[in-house]
Amino acid sequence: MTTLRHLKTNDYYPIVQVANEWWGGRPVAESLLKKVFFEHFQPTSFVLEQDGEILGFLIGFRSQTHPAQAYIYAVGTDPHHRGQGMGRSLYEHFFTVASRLGCSEVLSVTHPVNRGSIAFHTQMGFEILPGDAEIDGVAVTANYDGRGSARVLFRRRLERDPGAESA
Ligand SMILES: CC(C)(COP(=O)(O)OP(=O)(O)OC[C@H]1O[C@@H](n2cnc3c(N)ncnc32)[C@H](O)[C@@H]1OP(=O)(O)O)[C@@H](O)C(=O)NCCC(=O)NCCS
Repeated sequence: MTTLRHLKTNDYYPIVQVANEWWGGRPVAESLLKKVFFEHFQPTSFVLEQDGEILGFLIGFRSQTHPAQAYIYAVGTDPHHRGQGMGRSLYEHFFTVASRLGCSEVLSVTHPVNRGSIAFHTQMGFEILPGDAEIDGVAVTANYDGRGSARVLFRRRLERDPGAESA
């Protein structure tokens, strides 16, 4: 049975070991996954596991600057278990938690080469925000990271949770 739980600090080690493989060989383990996220974003970050093995994870947080916004920083599922709804489960759980915190929208960002991620976010109800350039027909924000790399910016509105904390 697959269970969903909060991310723990120690999840950092098994996740960095599989991350490059999960990202199709892109070297994301060091650049994307920082231990600080595993320590300090636990209330809004989740793991799906089966028999103690991590099959998927999501790192997200509520914006400290804009409390009505939540942000999904990274998501990954085991390539052997894709297309089975794990990414959807992680995202929908995050939407519920963010909405309960009083957030009205969720933001996310992806690399324009990551067509799978663009398709996944579109399927999860995200709109692509206008950018200042286009790559393969997709609006991107050029030089997003200050090092020349463009990014696709996403936003998804959330239903208001009537019992939510005020943002
Ligand atoms: C993106 C990712 C998390 C999707 O995980 P998943 O477990 O396969 O997702 P799900 O099975 O829950 O799919 C959810 C929906 O997205 C769609 N989807 C997922 N991946 C897709 C793809 N590559 N192409 C087209 N649609 C896709 C599914 O068809 C599904 O649609 P539906 O629920 O309406 O039928 C996974 O492919 C992954 O880990 N990729 C590598 C890491 C990555 O790029 N992360 C994102 C950037 S941080």
